[in-house]
Amino acid sequence: MDVLVIGSGAREHALVRALLDDPGVDRVVAAPGNAGTALVAPCEPVDAADPVAVAALARRLGADLVVVGPEAPLVAGVADAVRAAGIACFGPSAEAARLEGSKAFAKEVMAAAAVPTAMAHVCTTEAEVADALDAFGAPHVVKDDGLAAGKGVVVTGDRDEALAHARTCLEHGPVVVEEFLDGPEVSVFCLTDGESVVALAPAQDFKRALDGDAGPNTGGMGAYSPLPWAPADLADEVVQRVAQPVVAEMAKRGTPFSGVLYCGLALTSRGLRVVEFNARFGDPETQVVLARLASPLSQVLLACSRPGALLDSPPLRWHEDAAVTVVLAAPGYPEAPETGGLLRGLEDADAVEGAHVLHAGTAPATDGTGIVSSGGRVLSVVGTGPDLARAREAAYAAVRSVQLPGGHFRTDIAAAAAGA
Ligand code: AMP
Ligand code: GLY
Repeated sequence: MDVLVIGSGAREHALVRALLDDPGVDRVVAAPGNAGTALVAPCEPVDAADPVAVAALARRLGADLVVVGPEAPLVAGVADAVRAAGIACFGPSAEAARLEGSKAFAKEVMAAAAVPTAMAHVCTTEAEVADALDAFGAPHVVKDDGLAAGKGVVVTGDRDEALAHARTCLEHGPVVVEEFLDGPEVSVFCLTDGESVVALAPAQDFKRALDGDAGPNTGGMGAYSPLPWAPADLADEVVQRVAQPVVAEMAKRGTPFSGVLYCGLALTSRGLRVVEFNARFGDPETQVVLARLASPLSQVLLACSRPGALLDSPPLRWHEDAAVTVVLAAPGYPEAPETGGLLRGLEDADAVEGAHVLHAGTAPATDGTGIVSSGGRVLSVVGTGPDLARAREAAYAAVRSVQLPGGHFRTDIAAAAAGA
């Protein structure tokens, strides 16, 4: 099978890596990819959010399956265009991707499907926002309704800060004010063909920029799997109470959702609650989940592209190993990342036993000598080992082998879970 992977982050590098490991895959092409995917697979330039361009590329390459990594292409209709070209695609239609593209839509679907989530008010004026903030009380949760690359949410005890964020969001659309959810957050990726659902191993993401969950929200600074502290039946519960009802509701509306429903959940004192849905794999959680997956990836992704096919797929197999990933970020990330810094020590990091380096914001240096940073999150360094403590050791030994001027990473990824 020939597979085209759309996107340019470490999530896509992880997908490319897992597909290259799959004996059922003949060729993997990344588009546009990054300097890391270019080391292992051909990369094709493409505007990932242009449905016509992606479909044309898939046809030119003779791809049997297109796997769409990021949300923007899905919301733009890339999966629709690829399917219209007669090529199998892993990823939901633009209409179904609204589960991620609009928080208000996701809330409406969850209400219809009786899925537990935070109570919320969708507001269109500042006065409505003020009322909702007072009704729920502090801490305040204010969310931009549309896609904001993980930066549209403010959680704060400060009512003025909450109002100020709402005001910015209201300039371009509705804003969602929510009740605050306590308890740890988990990410469960639920694969679906639009009918049945299979959950991948749960993972936990670290969204804040700094150690101890301080600093601003980011796209994600690290992740680990498994979650030794979580209930053993967590994935089953998420399938039964969240993913299956949502998938059934979307099918009932005539807009079936296929691909991966990323369920971001809070395990609160009152039970699990959905924090958010995404219509794609999470980044950096994918990097650890795929490091643990023992089954060939292509068959299950292909099954998700055909209604009814997932039911006949063999059960997924998992390695016993734990996995930890640490994100190396550019100076100034997330507010104003500085790019163009030279990366050194990449080979040393890859040579650390149990570790591998996945690239995110990287590009070849213009003078052809080495690799430079080209985005806020630069690398996602993954460590695996028989337990989380040893997976952490491998990940940190590897990330410490890399030098990026001004680069920073969290030092406490998976520390509590590993008993460190
Ligand atoms: P979202 O983009 O909806 O995932 O929100 C980003 C982050 O904000 C989440 O991962 C949580 O850490 C936090 N967050 C979002 N909604 C809530 C909520 N209702 N209560 C507490 N924290 C939240
Ligand atoms: N890790 C958070 C996300 O992918 O949205």
